[in-house]
Amino acid sequence: MSLQPKHIYVTLCTLFIVYSFSIYLQPYFKNTVADTTDIAAGRIVWQKNNCQTCHQLYGLGGYLGPDLTDVYSAPGKGKDFIKAMLTTGIKQMPAFHLSDQEFNLLTAYLKSVDESGNSDPRKFLKLKTGMIEEQ
Ligand code: HEC
Repeated sequence: MSLQPKHIYVTLCTLFIVYSFSIYLQPYFKNTVADTTDIAAGRIVWQKNNCQTCHQLYGLGGYLGPDLTDVYSAPGKGKDFIKAMLTTGIKQMPAFHLSDQEFNLLTAYLKSVDESGNSDPRKFLKLKTGMIEEQ
């Protein structure tokens, strides 16, 4: 018996169905370990207060306020500066009445964003495949 197009068709359909089932039957958060770090809790503070609607992190977010990726380590800025901005508000930014704990969590998050967001794009080489590689 030679290999007919219908055999290929039936094989591919069967594989598709089996594969789809195997994916949809996996519990949604199976491999996610609950993240209980300060950084994760700080991200929740960031999200609850909608900072992202006006600010960007890693270049993504709203454009009313400046990008805050490096605000934690920027010269003349940092934790006290962030606190001052949040307690007084500035121009279109309202004041936020965060508790000390919320503020500490939020800055732990911004610090981690800062530490992971320092790559200078000029250090990367763009490959023909569309990928990037550090030079
Ligand atoms: C309604 C929009 C809006 C929201 C929401 C908002 N901001 Fe802002 N924020 C601004 C604007 C606009 C500025 C810039 C003001 C200026 O200097 O002209 C700013 C400035 C800042 C600055 C100073 C940045 C710098 O480099 O000068 C910090 C820090 C900051 N915001 C933190 C936050 C945090 C944290 C949150 C969430 C809790 C937040 N903002 C929510 C609009 C917003």
